[in-house]
Amino acid sequence: MLKHGTKTKQLYSRAMEVMPYGVSSNYRFYSADETLVVAKAKGAYIYDYDGNRFIDYRLGWGPVIVGHGDEFVNNRVKEAIDYGVSFAGTQKYEISVCERIIDLCPGVEMVRLCNTGTEATMHAIRLARGHTGRELILKFEGSYHGAHDNVMWTTQGADPGKVGNRRRPTPVKNSLGIPKAINDLILTCPWNDEEVLGEILAERGEEIAAIIVEPILGNANGLTPPISYLQFLRDQCDKHGIVLIFDEVKTGFRIAPGGAREYFGVIPDLSTYAKALGNGFPIAAIGGRKEMLLKLAPGQVFHGGTYSGNAASTAAADATLELIQRGEVFGKIRQVGRMIQDGVREICSRHGVAVRINGAPGMFGVCFTDQQPKDWRELLAQGNWDLSEKVYAYMVAHGVMPEPRGLEPFFLSASHSASDAEETLQRFEEGLTLALA
Ligand SMILES: Cc1ncc(COP(=O)(O)O)c(C=O)c1O
Repeated sequence: MLKHGTKTKQLYSRAMEVMPYGVSSNYRFYSADETLVVAKAKGAYIYDYDGNRFIDYRLGWGPVIVGHGDEFVNNRVKEAIDYGVSFAGTQKYEISVCERIIDLCPGVEMVRLCNTGTEATMHAIRLARGHTGRELILKFEGSYHGAHDNVMWTTQGADPGKVGNRRRPTPVKNSLGIPKAINDLILTCPWNDEEVLGEILAERGEEIAAIIVEPILGNANGLTPPISYLQFLRDQCDKHGIVLIFDEVKTGFRIAPGGAREYFGVIPDLSTYAKALGNGFPIAAIGGRKEMLLKLAPGQVFHGGTYSGNAASTAAADATLELIQRGEVFGKIRQVGRMIQDGVREICSRHGVAVRINGAPGMFGVCFTDQQPKDWRELLAQGNWDLSEKVYAYMVAHGVMPEPRGLEPFFLSASHSASDAEETLQRFEEGLTLALA
């Protein structure tokens, strides 16, 4: 990140007094003089307090799909909030959002709303346990499913030196404060490896309630599996009576209008959505088979939330999904995303730098390597992350903001333009040239 200028320094010193490290999420802290303090954002751009403008490829780590401060979305929110936001009852935007999700996402028959991706995966896991009467959860190395105790195991940020042999992986806690006992309920597995998963399932398949998977690793450079791998998960879950959960918090309404279900053509039992669903407003959803969703009932599986389905967030989601349904979002994202991907490949080839691009045009990672990494372990070991950091530091210092930690993908919105892509590629080439000198 860029070093703080005078105005940012003043504001951030106030933040440091009252918020641990001056932030509302551990992930947002970079250093005492680099953590981003945002003055405003509009369309594809984000501004700090010292007059710096950046083309934003972080987009709040994924939610902003139409563009920052979008007028169509904001007008729908304004229309809603004049008549109250929290009712302890059902309201019209909520119904409309669930109808639109069902229309867009193949195989989703019913939807429950909540507020964050963390809540969505927490409730989906409880629903899977309630549905199957089993307790074990299997998650993959390098995938992030939110901040609750059941999933903070071997996510991005875990020490790869501690995860053990890939055939018998050791789950590694990503936080202090998670009870040891939870470990007995969690299995981890290398992602995109049918053989290892097959062995684990042969041994413990009948004890597992759910396999939760990010269809594209949104926290590990956008690594993308072959469709056959996701189909393998579907088949194995059917064979062992396991609930398959696609965690689509990042891929939902981002890699395609209908998310990973549409992109890969594989239908899980449950999907969790958040981020792009609300163009930045806090809203999340669990969607899936009616038979399972109907178990969210008194005396069966508990789901609650004071703010779930509130009018402000559902109005934002209603407008966002309407734009997606009208076909006004993805053409632009695909065009500009592909321009940047092609440009990066071309620049790297001219400079003799090996590169692999992972993910979809709306969400892709750049990995400097000459071999395609298959999973999180290979990604960390093979990528030249020093080079990414140098290139991205240059870009940020010159008005283009990908996530400086190169493992997070670039996110695109419908507000990014071809001229933004050209500027981005120029800065990328200058940064690369300097880093290689
Ligand atoms: C795939 C995935 N699942 C769940 C979450 C948690 O979402 P939230 O931060 O809204 O709780 C995230 C957040 O980045 C995510 O990327």
